[in-house]
Amino acid sequence: MKTSVGIEALAVALPRRTLHLEDLARARGVDPAKYVAGLGVREMAVADAGEDTVALAATAARRLLEANQIDPATIGLLAVGTETGVDHSKPVASFVQGLVGLPRHMRVFDVQHACYGGTAALMAAAEWIASGVAGGKSAIVICSDIARYGVKTAGEPTQGAGAVAMLVSAHPDLLSFDLGLNGTSSAHVFDFWRPLGRREAVVDGHYSIDCYLEALAGAYREWRGKAEARELVRRGASALPSEQLAALAYHVPFCKMAKKAHGRLRRCDLDDVLGAFDEGREEREAASSFERQVAHSLTLCARVGNVYTGSLYLGLAGMMQEGAAALAGKRIGLFSYGSGCASEFFSGVVGTAAAARIQRAKLNEVVGSRERITVDEYERLMALAADRPPEIPPPPGGFRFTGIHEHRRQYSAG
Ligand code: HMG
Repeated sequence: MKTSVGIEALAVALPRRTLHLEDLARARGVDPAKYVAGLGVREMAVADAGEDTVALAATAARRLLEANQIDPATIGLLAVGTETGVDHSKPVASFVQGLVGLPRHMRVFDVQHACYGGTAALMAAAEWIASGVAGGKSAIVICSDIARYGVKTAGEPTQGAGAVAMLVSAHPDLLSFDLGLNGTSSAHVFDFWRPLGRREAVVDGHYSIDCYLEALAGAYREWRGKAEARELVRRGASALPSEQLAALAYHVPFCKMAKKAHGRLRRCDLDDVLGAFDEGREEREAASSFERQVAHSLTLCARVGNVYTGSLYLGLAGMMQEGAAALAGKRIGLFSYGSGCASEFFSGVVGTAAAARIQRAKLNEVVGSRERITVDEYERLMALAADRPPEIPPPPGGFRFTGIHEHRRQYSAG
């Protein structure tokens, strides 16, 4: 496939409040080092009643359209990846289409598969364009979620919320996908799920980490086989196949997970390519390759927490913000994982206009303009009923849920 398709631009929306993990640790009687160093998370975004999945998704979509001066008539597909939708039947994408004024003649749908739903939507959009069926139109893919495990649970420090909206087109200024190379790995497992009617996920935490790592190994090996066949990476070179990627972004439920993932990825190469290796030396090399290939992708994730479907793409946004100019023209790898489970390892080449594009997302402003809240305030917000009308108006350019009238969810725009 010769067509160039991928992510042209992206935009991010976050709740206006953030909780610092060291504050949470003290309130729970836990050593703050466990959350900050042990899990690698500094802050987590806390959504209030007005900042539901629709409001976050629509705010990100509006930012994407305005910052990149996109003519809505050029959009032929809107897909939202989410596992925290607001209705059993009407998709989040349908609300977004109306709120941001997208045209009538387009495909509009949600995709659900835990944190993997956004990647399924992204690949459907990219392959729709690559097939030629899109007829020159572009797609908007939004990953929007609110990650809730509940107060005083083991998952509590791994919550978060936010939305990442991406313009997918045949002008992939940010990242041009290596179409046809993706490796997948999925299985029917109960590592994390959310039975109907529950706001909080049920999770088998340590087992979920094992499922993630096993899926990564399977998806990466499949991608690597295809990449070797196309001579995009080579065995027998001085660098391992995974080291031939300039950077890597992993799904980030908490930042330490990226470190575990990176270690496992390297282990696949070491086992398959070298066979025997020196453990002590590998520990040092894994640490230095983590700093070189992965650390940039964690800058935003460490300040937002888990965004479920959006976490990988928040990682990509952080990577672009920190190093797009240096990565221009280079190949990077991405790993998406959704509990249940489904996963995909894919790659792409960073565009020469990536640095200019990512500046338009004003990520420092989006992350820096939030308000630090106390643990008492966080607990008050967590205890609010799901559909309680919000206490404050929407921010300029943003959307907020305002209540339910005759079973119809209402939103206002700032
Ligand atoms: P836990 O059992 O409370 O934590 O919960 P722990 O005892 O495993 O400690 C965590 C780390 O902190 C360990 O590091 C400790 O050593 C370290 P590791 O050994 O793993 O490298 N530690 C310290 N470090 C420094 N100073 C200290 C200290 N004490 C301990 N004093 C767990 C952790 C992640 C299990 C829990 O938070 C949880 O259940 N989270 C939710 C599940 C999750 O995030 N799973 C990730 C994989 S599944 C996935 O990614 C999909 C998902 O996004 C959902 C979807 O797809 O929709 C979750």
